[in-house]
Amino acid sequence: MGIDVTGRHARSDERQPMTKLAIVYYSSTGHGTKMAQRLSMAGENAGAEVRLRHIAETRDPSTFANNPAWSANYEATKDEPAATGDDLVWADAVILGSPTRFGATAGPFQAFMDGLGGLWAEGKLANKVYAAYTSSQTLHGGQETTLTALYTSLMHFGGVIVPPGYTDALKFADGNPYGVSHVTGPDNTNELEETTLVALDHLAQRVVWVAGKLEW
Ligand SMILES: Cc1cc2nc3c(=O)[nH]c(=O)nc-3n(C[C@H](O)[C@H](O)[C@H](O)COP(=O)(O)O)c2cc1C
Repeated sequence: MGIDVTGRHARSDERQPMTKLAIVYYSSTGHGTKMAQRLSMAGENAGAEVRLRHIAETRDPSTFANNPAWSANYEATKDEPAATGDDLVWADAVILGSPTRFGATAGPFQAFMDGLGGLWAEGKLANKVYAAYTSSQTLHGGQETTLTALYTSLMHFGGVIVPPGYTDALKFADGNPYGVSHVTGPDNTNELEETTLVALDHLAQRVVWVAGKLEW
């Protein structure tokens, strides 16, 4: 039996329709990229058609050449398709990801959001399922404020925000009812823990499941 995403009892996978899931994220040093890849795999396993899209780096690579993790993530993702507003329009469900910076989303992520005004005005971002994830260096470094700030924008879209809550016992282990988050540690090198990996699986499954229930 899979993870119970309903918060009540297990469901039958036969009833799940094909959902279009976009995972749109910004990452500097690669933690967010790994989280996005896990979400993508979980979304596909849940029966969704997935678009995995990074938000393109806005800084000149020479400005972070002294940061090997940032340079490595840049090199690994720069030739992958970059996110556009059309990816959100295409999707039934969207999972957004940003590192925490000063308790809020990162500049490139916010610039991407700011570029969605035209689609918002046309109502093309409404009535989709949304959820989000983040990472921060420290445990109380602003993960919850990042996620709730991000969700405020999604309310402006008219999005259907689907937080994980404590809908499965595993959420009491990762401890974040707002989304999923990773603590990257003092050296920014912590690998994703099993509790976070299964929380990412749960988030993707739950988002796909709820999107499959909605008929507009
Ligand atoms: C400008 C800046 C501001 C940051 N602000 C915070 C913060 O408020 N709290 C925190 O714990 N970590 C903070 N960090 C650390 C990042 O959250 C951390 O490196 C990030 O989650 C790594 O994600 P990524 O590998 O996907 O880029 C900050 C990093 C930068 C560069």
